[in-house]
Amino acid sequence: MKSRYVDPFTPDIPVSDPTRFSGRKTQVELVVDSLYQLKHGKPTSTIITGDRGIGKSSLLNQAKELAQGDNRLPLRLGIDLGVEFQ
Ligand SMILES: Nc1ncnc2c1ncn2[C@@H]1O[C@H](COP(=O)(O)OP(=O)(O)OP(=O)(O)O)[C@@H](O)[C@H]1O
Ligand SMILES: [Mg+2]
Repeated sequence: MKSRYVDPFTPDIPVSDPTRFSGRKTQVELVVDSLYQLKHGKPTSTIITGDRGIGKSSLLNQAKELAQGDNRLPLRLGIDLGVEFQ
């Protein structure tokens, strides 16, 4: 019998860790801008749409991390936040 193992691929689990989130610079830019407008009293409606499994929930997770002050992803992608970060 084959030995038991944990499958390293996680197609059913959206990415939460910013260090594991790949690409999507344009979409992350839009999320950053949405949060920037919100911070400056101009909330905008933002919709994340796309095909099944394209990465919608993962992007939303990154929006949550950003809103909570984790700026690692925009820093890595070279995105200007437009605000000072400690
Ligand atoms: N930017 C990304 N970098 C690395 N992996 C990603 C990225 N986006 C999505 N994935 C991977 O692709 C898979 C599907 O992502 P996710 O669940 O976010 O998609 P979804 O669009 O919300 O799917 P569904 O339509 O089923 O709700 C997950 O395993 C996730 O880990
Ligand atoms: Mg999803």
